[in-house]
Amino acid sequence: MPKLLRTSLSLLIMIICLGCTAGPLPEATRLRNTSTPYPLATKVPVPTLIPTATVTSVSTLPVVSTTVASTATAQVFVAPDFGKVYTQTAQAKLTALALTPVATRTPWPSSAPALRDLAAKHGLYIGAAVQAGLLAKEPAYSDTAARQFNLIVPEYEMKMCIIWPARDRFDFSASDAIVQFAVDHQQRLRGHNLVWTDCLPDWISQGHFSQADATAMLKQYISAVVGHYRGKIQYWDVLNETIDRPPVWQSLIGPDYETLALTWAHAADPDALLFYNDYDAEVMNNKADRIYAMVKAWRAAGVPIHGVGLQAHLKGPIDYASLAQNIARLNALGLQVHITELDLPQDDFAPAQDEMQGQVYANVLKVCLAAKNCPVFVFWGFTDKYSYLNQNTQVFPLIFDQDYKPKPAYAAIYQVLGGK
Ligand code: G3I
Repeated sequence: MPKLLRTSLSLLIMIICLGCTAGPLPEATRLRNTSTPYPLATKVPVPTLIPTATVTSVSTLPVVSTTVASTATAQVFVAPDFGKVYTQTAQAKLTALALTPVATRTPWPSSAPALRDLAAKHGLYIGAAVQAGLLAKEPAYSDTAARQFNLIVPEYEMKMCIIWPARDRFDFSASDAIVQFAVDHQQRLRGHNLVWTDCLPDWISQGHFSQADATAMLKQYISAVVGHYRGKIQYWDVLNETIDRPPVWQSLIGPDYETLALTWAHAADPDALLFYNDYDAEVMNNKADRIYAMVKAWRAAGVPIHGVGLQAHLKGPIDYASLAQNIARLNALGLQVHITELDLPQDDFAPAQDEMQGQVYANVLKVCLAAKNCPVFVFWGFTDKYSYLNQNTQVFPLIFDQDYKPKPAYAAIYQVLGGK
């Protein structure tokens, strides 16, 4: 069966099964609004975005789209990557959710609404990873972060190697600075991360501990950190990339270390939503299947898991129908899905690459907005001046250039959010 047909049929299955999703989160795991500092944005229906054409019958569709299936509730037409995802429900006309060519690098009017203003209309938290040192010393960095985003996440300051430098010492100074910035600018926070194979302090990676000791240590750490930020951090990446890169805790504590970590985090802040976060599992693939099976089993066992983070460190266009299907099946478990670390390196700095980057970012956002429960969309940084990807060469992965000017990628996101 051709890939496009297989993909499209899976998208059709996703659209049909959207009506058969699990009910809302059980009361115990729904985010109670008591302790969040800011009112939860209610999810407003996603308006029809940038209808570049309203076609009433399949025959008038451009050749790039292929009819693959029709049912009583939906006709699904999926174009190749970079194309358009057309859907028609019984009552709505066929609307092409497609991008008009985005504005190139023109000076951005200061009177234009910011991304956070547009996102709020969709009940979306649009965010970026930030660094405490840059917030403190670079006004263009901090001003942009405050103006554009209604959610931020520490890029590295909230990791174990920074917060727990010695067994008898916790250092929250850098992560507190980011949390205070969020409080000052009415932003939500993703806590990142509690359990990861990287960024272990030396006294742990070089130490020798019994199972009982290691269990007590990890419980102490999670309880201390989540407790320290109780009521301030709405979402925690409790487990990061553990399915294929198990941390030392697996050998020290045993196979239950993940569910124990989730349980300890939930006890420390019952209102925080707890996530499993990973890369290369955005679309339907073997890793995504294993993560799906893992979190499905945790949900069935009553383990406090509330969502999955898809990091989306992309390396080019992806199969958007497959991304939509993966998000839909996770939502059907009653889980939120967040895009948590979106970036897309460009091989070289060229307008065509800029346009491509904008198309990919916009299409990923469209899939998130159209999903049942994808309320958070985060870039891993926001200016090309500072990206972890710029190790050996500038790869221009983000939405502002190194002078903090909006790139076509920014314009594409702006358009999808309904900006004029
Ligand atoms: O800012 C300090 C600088 O003052 C100091 O002189 C220098 C030398 O020690 O370190 C600088 O901090 C570095 C920081 O990045 C900022 O550049 C840390 O050493 C370095 O370890 C840190 O790397 C981070 C990495 O995770 C490890 O924590 C990256 O910023 C961050 O982008 C990366 O993010 C990960 C996610 O957490 C998980 N998903 C993959 C993603 C990319 O690897």
